[in-house]
Amino acid sequence: MLQPEVAERNERMSGEVVLDQEWFAVCDIAEIPEDMGFRLEIGADSAVAAFRVDTTFHVVDDRCSHGAASLADGFIEGAEIECPYHGGKFDLRTGEPTAFPCTKAIRVYETKVEEGRLYARPATMNEGSE
Ligand code: FES
Repeated sequence: MLQPEVAERNERMSGEVVLDQEWFAVCDIAEIPEDMGFRLEIGADSAVAAFRVDTTFHVVDDRCSHGAASLADGFIEGAEIECPYHGGKFDLRTGEPTAFPCTKAIRVYETKVEEGRLYARPATMNEGSE
């Protein structure tokens, strides 16, 4: 379950990418590299990136908020992803920027794993638990 402020921010950002609120399959968890992301295109100009941090899975918008970099190609440091272009960082749990030059948050998704498959959906303030 996302923190309310994260879900609220996602709601504000929802105009950037049109997605319904249904769960969508991202990948088999075995497809996620140990120290990188797995990229899934979800529209003509949008994609999400899935990451594994220990036993937790995170899904965020793939595009860095500072430029056109794919965060799936970035570097995991703890619960942060470092952008491969200019070294900016984001907290994978909240989407908040944690290192310059990134100053704008990225969207994070709720995740669940069923039978070895990772699912995600954009969270909103109005959603209850599963
Ligand atoms: S494009 Fe990501 S830090 Fe510049």
